[in-house]
Amino acid sequence: MNVLDFYTKKQKGDKISMITCYDYTSARLLAETPVDCLLVGDSVAMTMHGYKDTLSATLEMMCFHTSAVSRGAGNKFIVGDMPFLSYRKSLSKNVTAAQVLMQAGAHAVKLECAAGNAKLVRHLTESGIPVMGHLGLTPQSVYALGGYKVQGKTQESAARLKEDALILQEAGCFAIVLECVPAPLAKTVTQQLSVPTIGIGAGPDTDGQVLVFQDLLGLNQDFKPKFVKAFVNGYEQLKQGIETYISAVKSGEFPQHEHCFEN
Ligand code: KIV
Repeated sequence: MNVLDFYTKKQKGDKISMITCYDYTSARLLAETPVDCLLVGDSVAMTMHGYKDTLSATLEMMCFHTSAVSRGAGNKFIVGDMPFLSYRKSLSKNVTAAQVLMQAGAHAVKLECAAGNAKLVRHLTESGIPVMGHLGLTPQSVYALGGYKVQGKTQESAARLKEDALILQEAGCFAIVLECVPAPLAKTVTQQLSVPTIGIGAGPDTDGQVLVFQDLLGLNQDFKPKFVKAFVNGYEQLKQGIETYISAVKSGEFPQHEHCFEN
């Protein structure tokens, strides 16, 4: 998969699958699957570091995780999230932020919202950096949005979202994430764009879907929003494996002869 395949997939109606990935071991696992794209999302601050929101993700954190993912991801296409405010400074600082993320191993960067970002998106794409947009519920603005809420529910906000999607496409984004928007609105936005949309909580009619690794594996016990589907009960299965190991240690069943070194 490369950046051009995103367009081709949309044209062919071939759905794009994206999964977040934050570390080397998970990247190795995902590299063995047919997933189209890995996202080193700023959700890393929550899933891997235990912060309550994504505002705590720093550029250093994003580069650290992007670099680990890139060492395990084989030839998977990697998108790196530009963290909170890292792209809202001077053009020169914004470009440097994108540069270090790309040099850490990303093949594209993702940034949230359209307002005030079109010039940067154009500059980055003209500089050879593919940019993925992100509209709808943009978690870096959670305090401005008044919480984690479905976006685009009023006529006015739906019209703004459609306009923002066109602004990002026009600026050069190769794909746009639509997070937590009503399914009919996501369908309309998807139909009006030539670049693909990748939905999360945006219904079935986007050009692709993205889920957080821990959510799709059922590892997250405390956070289960409506749009998440756990495809395996990973929490229980891993817990069971760990408990089996502990009992084997206690009973002396582990280690056995084949696990030991002879003289
Ligand atoms: O950081 C992230 O996980 C994301 C996805 C929700 C799209 O941006």
